[in-house]
Parts: sequence; C-alpha cells; structure tokens
Amino acid sequence: MTPIDHTATSTHPLDPLSPDELERSVVALRRAGLAELGSRVISVDLLEPDKAALRAWREGGAVPEREALAVVLDISGEARECTIGLAGDTITDTRSLAGMQPAVSMDEYFEAGAACRRDAGYQEALARRGIEGDQVELVHIEPWTVGSFEQGPRRMARCLSWLRSSLDDVNPYGRPLGGLVALVDLTEMQVVRIDDHGTLPVPDGDWNYRDGGGDGYRDDQRPIEITQPEGPSFTLHGRELRWQKWRLRVGFSHRESLVLHEICYEQDGEVRPICHRASIAELVIPYGDPNPTVHFKNVFDIGEYGVGPLVNALELGCDCVGDITYLDAACVNSRGEVDVLPNAICIHEEDYGILWKHHDDNTGRTDVARSRRLVISCITTVGNYEYGFFWYLYQDGGIQFEGKLTGIVLTAGVPAGEPQRHATEVAPGVAAGYHQHFFTARLDMDVDGERNVVFEVDSAPEPAGPDNPEGSAFTTHRRTFQRESQAKRDVAPLQARRWRVENPARTNRMGEAVAYELVPGDNVAPMALPGSQFRRRAGFLDHHLWVTPYRRDERFPAGEYPNQHEGGDGLPRWTAADRALENEDVVLWYSFGAHHIPRLEDWPVMPVAYCGFHLRPVGFFDRSPALDVPPPHGADCNHR
Ligand code: NI
Repeated sequence: MTPIDHTATSTHPLDPLSPDELERSVVALRRAGLAELGSRVISVDLLEPDKAALRAWREGGAVPEREALAVVLDISGEARECTIGLAGDTITDTRSLAGMQPAVSMDEYFEAGAACRRDAGYQEALARRGIEGDQVELVHIEPWTVGSFEQGPRRMARCLSWLRSSLDDVNPYGRPLGGLVALVDLTEMQVVRIDDHGTLPVPDGDWNYRDGGGDGYRDDQRPIEITQPEGPSFTLHGRELRWQKWRLRVGFSHRESLVLHEICYEQDGEVRPICHRASIAELVIPYGDPNPTVHFKNVFDIGEYGVGPLVNALELGCDCVGDITYLDAACVNSRGEVDVLPNAICIHEEDYGILWKHHDDNTGRTDVARSRRLVISCITTVGNYEYGFFWYLYQDGGIQFEGKLTGIVLTAGVPAGEPQRHATEVAPGVAAGYHQHFFTARLDMDVDGERNVVFEVDSAPEPAGPDNPEGSAFTTHRRTFQRESQAKRDVAPLQARRWRVENPARTNRMGEAVAYELVPGDNVAPMALPGSQFRRRAGFLDHHLWVTPYRRDERFPAGEYPNQHEGGDGLPRWTAADRALENEDVVLWYSFGAHHIPRLEDWPVMPVAYCGFHLRPVGFFDRSPALDVPPPHGADCNHR
C-alpha cells in the first residue's frame, strides 16, 4: 500500500464532498426545513466550480467556495434542487423541479420490492404461478425505471420477479416469473397495477455459478504473484495522483462514480494540460425484445439511478492484484445518512507487454522497453450486471477508457424450446433478450490550454490519374467543426475516422499545432428506431460524437433529470443554438456501444466483455515520449 499523505488536508476545489461535508449539507437542508422526516435525499454532490473561477484561483485569486448540490423529494413527492454554500453551511439557492423526476434511490429500489410482497394482487399473481407461503420470501424483485411509458406525474417503477431456489441461491435469474409486471408508485410505495401477461411454468434449473457451477474447480492452475519490492511508481497527495510524468486528480460523484480531473503531462518542468475533466456521464441499456417483461427496459443507469452508491468494496488479490492503493468514497442514502464506501477506487500499475522494440541487422543490437500502465478503476453492481470503469494512462502519452461488462444477463420467461427472434434461450424457458449498452464519455478537453479546435480526419484513396499512377496513393482529409451542427458525427472505421482536438496557438517541432485525437474502438448504431420512445429519450445517441462549448451546467447528455422524461433535453436541446466551436473551450461527448446478442457462454455468469476508446497524442510531443523509459531492471534486454 502506498501511504496516503494525510498532511495534505487542505481541500482542493475539485475534491469530492467529504463525509463531513455531506453530513453538514444534510444538516443545512434539515435546518431549512427542506429535508423533514419522510422526505428523501436523492443525492448530494459537489457542485464543481466554474472553470473561470478555478483559473482565477490558480492565477492568485480567491479559492472558489465549496458548494454542494442536493436533490430532495419532499413527503408529497415534489422534487427540489438545493445549493448549499459550505463556508457557512447555508442554503444559497433552491429550485423547484416540478414536472421532473429525479433519480431512483437505492432505498426506493428495495422498498418497492417490499411493497410488491405485501400487495394482495401481487400475491395472487404469485399464487397463479404456484408460489405461496414460505416460497414468497424466495421471490427476487427488481424495480425498473419506466421511461415515458407511464403517463402522469406519479413517480413509478415497474417490478420484475424471479424465484430463487433457496435462501442461499446466488443467481435468481435462472427462474424468471414470465409475464408478471407490477407497477409501483414510489411516493405512496404501493402497487398500483399488476400487468399479468399470462403465466408460464417457472423454470426449475438451479443456475448457481459458484464452485465451478457445481462441478468443482480445475486443478492445473499454478500461482502468479505480482510484487513491487520497492513499491509502486506513483504518489498520491490528497487526491492528486502523480505517476511518472502524468499528473491528475481523482474525483468521485454520486451520479457518475469515478471522475478524473486535470489530466496533465509534465515535460521539461512544464505541466501541460490535456483534459480538464473526464467521466462516463451516461450509460443506457436499451433492450430489443418485445417480450412483455422486457420491451420497456431501456434504463439510464447513471441518470436514472446514479452509480456512485453502487461501487464495490474492492478486494486485494481479487479485483486488483499487485501493489494497490485504494480510495474510499462517500454518498448519502435517501434518509440523508452518509455511507462511506470503503476501497471504492483502485489505483495500481500493470505490466502491459512491450512498449517498443527494434533489432538492428547491421549492428546485431536489440533494444526493447516494457510498457506499463497506470490503472484507475472502480466497479459498480447495478442489479444483475457489473460495470467496471477503467481508465488507463500509458508511457507513450496515451489515455484509454475501458468499460468492463460482467455479471448476469437479464432473463425473461418464455415457453421452453419455442424459437426466439429477439432473445437467446440460455436455459430451457429462460430467455436473455438482445440488448445494447451505450456508454457516453464526457471529455472536457484542454489541449495545452482551453482554446481548442476540433476536426475530423478521414483517410481516403486518391483518385486515379497522373499523380496516382499505380492506384495505391491515399491521403487524409480534415474537416473542421466550426459550429455544433457540423460536429454531430458517427464512427467510420473503413475510413479510419478520428476526431482531433488541436491547439493552434502552440506548435510542435515541425510547426504544426499540437493535438490529441480520439480513436474509437468497436462501436455500433442504436437498434431502436428513430422516433421510438427510447430514441426520443436518448437523443444523444443519434450520433456517436457531439462537440459543445464548455458550460458549467451542461453536464449530462440527456440533461439533469432523464427519469420519466419524454426526451429532448441535454445535447439535442443545447446544440439547437448551433454555437461556434472554433477556438472555444470544447467538450467532446463520445458514445460507444457494447452490442449484446447473448451466448450460451454468457450463462450463468458472463465472462467480461470490453468496450471503450483511446485518446492519443498527435504531434503533441516532438518525438516519442517513451524513449526515456529505461530498459527493464535486472534483465538483459538491451544487448549486443
Ligand atoms: Ni449485456
């Protein structure tokens, strides 16, 4: 473990709210009568200072005041947004959120299940499936957000049900209760409607995945141990992380979980900014199965729930191996209590194969350097699924985000053996619907400063002619995004499309503007039709890339409150103004989808699937920044 420097006690303006600040925020709300008994505190997060205030502070001005942004539901279900000034613990602003539904808290999630269990209509629906008496306790209930399918101002969730085989069963998803949907009013905490689309036999398999799925473990695996006898090569002062030439701050929010701030690279004593803030600002999972217990599912895990409170307590040797440093996180629950989430963020180094190598035939010399990367990660459990949020920094100036998807595929009951067009029958009577997972990265780029230009670079063959006699010539085409309307773009892997963020005010050794570029990974289009309920609500998925000028209050691609929202907020609304982008402080919004046609191999617990993107320097450095990585210690790699 790297010792955390506890002398660095002064709070940085971008540090997440401490447990003490969260508690003081709730006390301030209560004192102002804004969080009386029976109300719900949905979230309390740092209201990050405006970049202008941060800049002024860095130039010798005042420290921006710490502010918290709280979202509260009162007893009647009215939502309110409150700003709390933490210098005096006072409410400095309140805004009614009439007509909006804030995110669903974890307490509501669990209480909705209990509401189903005590409802006579729900019990009758269970009885129709042969589930009575003690067996009712074995029913596993999950409340899903309703999108805009339920009209009216009520705060709702649709509950789906599965039957565990015993109280020790870790996988209820093998026994879906087909056809059963319970609609729960989350304010009254009562079932308001049972939609029973017809009973199906409850599948009787036991799909435990422990102990090798019941068949024991393979016995031919020998230990691998990763040791760093001199400790890791990074340091953490407060939340400032330094690793070799990288500098950044590790943040955290209730809604997004892991956030990286002020990612910079130090070169010859100069700290060069690259990205002011990087996070996954939304994660939506549209299902493509018209099954009555599936079709409405297109949950916005970040905007409709918030993944901060869902982070795992990571375990050394299990989630992360090597010399690990952990950071705790803290969130409020809906009763306004502060929950400290231990070992929420993992920081460690990984060996990553070779960084570069060459053998010179003339001299017979071989030189090789090993790559290592710094990993900053957290893992969240969102119902049936685990989402890992992994950021990597490399010694060649590269930055990578990788989403890791694992857990259990969501299941629905179907008549056993009947052909499925929109789902994979992973076990008799158990169907895993086709679905997609779209992550949206929000990247507030500051490449060597705030004023940047964004353009698209495609590669294309040159036309045949005297300049291309063999037909083999190809070149690159640049297209500058002058306005927002020009910056709504899709991936084009056959053209090797990249999006480049350039600072024209600073040039490299060859006289060109320094730049970083976004390199898309595997991606896919949303399958839901334009105009569908899901596409209206997730308008930001109309394109993989959007670029906007930085605004402090433009934080989430579907707007602040996507839960039960009709759609149209966020990126589609902001960019309707068609603002200018050239030499502005630009924000990139990049969406990438993990397309999931479930396989038998994804059952009963899914091996990790990956998705993501890279940011890499293009003329940001004058030559490879990886030349000074020394030969591996103790090995004879650079030899004659
Ligand atoms: Ni999936």
